[in-house]
Amino acid sequence: MLLKDKTAVITGCNRGIGLSMLETYSNHGAKIIACVRKTNNIFEKKISELSKENSRKIDIVEFDLSNESEIEKGFKKIKELSQKVDILINNAGINQISLFQMTTLKSLREIFEVNFFATYSFTQKLLKLITKSSNGKIINISSNAATLCSPGRSGYASSKSAVIALTKVLSKELGRYKICVNAIAPGLTDTEMKNQTSEKEIKEALNQTPLNKIATPNDIANVSLFLASDLSNHVSGETIFVSGGM
Ligand SMILES: NC(=O)c1ccc[n+]([C@@H]2O[C@H](COP(=O)([O-])OP(=O)(O)OC[C@H]3O[C@@H](n4cnc5c(N)ncnc54)[C@H](OP(=O)(O)O)[C@@H]3O)[C@@H](O)[C@H]2O)c1
Repeated sequence: MLLKDKTAVITGCNRGIGLSMLETYSNHGAKIIACVRKTNNIFEKKISELSKENSRKIDIVEFDLSNESEIEKGFKKIKELSQKVDILINNAGINQISLFQMTTLKSLREIFEVNFFATYSFTQKLLKLITKSSNGKIINISSNAATLCSPGRSGYASSKSAVIALTKVLSKELGRYKICVNAIAPGLTDTEMKNQTSEKEIKEALNQTPLNKIATPNDIANVSLFLASDLSNHVSGETIFVSGGM
């Protein structure tokens, strides 16, 4: 029970890595505020089963992170649910694969809107609630694409590099409030997002991965559990690559 009595806010947790975090955190005793763009019956059924199993209520807040007024609305609902937030996971993200010459500024803005501006703005809004925690944790989900910088990833890799830079700056600004700010840079992980990567690229990536396998969402969630828990109280400003040694 590494997160007993902690309140965690997780974005993009209706599927993929976020859903695995939600399950892991609930199993470790956290009270969860699940932020999703749109809820559905299957997700709500899962949430109610998980709440029953762990005797912990999970609240769902719906808002679209690509829209600033929606983020504001989402924040107001979160504030009504909890006056204090111990853990914030900025997980929601989108990928785009297009060559530099083919990338429009419109699509570049779209990717930055979710991957970077939303992370920035949502964290800014939640900060007052996180400062009320005695051990606040902010975890930003970047990507190993930020350092691989492969062809076709000008927008995605840039947005995820910006997330790492923001993580470092915030760790310096927020240390005085005893808030740890870290990033996780997953490698290829078995979620819907992976399906955007071609078979050829997956094969090439595996060839460069010493552990020679694709991560499961749970592999990423477990590392985030360490960063969210008191086990990492002296870790801040770091980016942990969870990429099988790539
Ligand atoms: N999978 C990988 O190989 C990989 C590798 C490195 C880093 N990552 C990063 O890991 C994080 C999680 O990705 P994943 O693999 O779990 O991908 P995923 O299965 O595609 O899930 C993405 C999540 O982000 C949410 N989201 C996207 N746009 C949103 C918006 N405008 N407002 C609110 N929510 C939004 C999605 O909600 P909807 O269901 O409503 O679309 C979904 O819950 C992302 O930041 C991604 O960049 C993934």
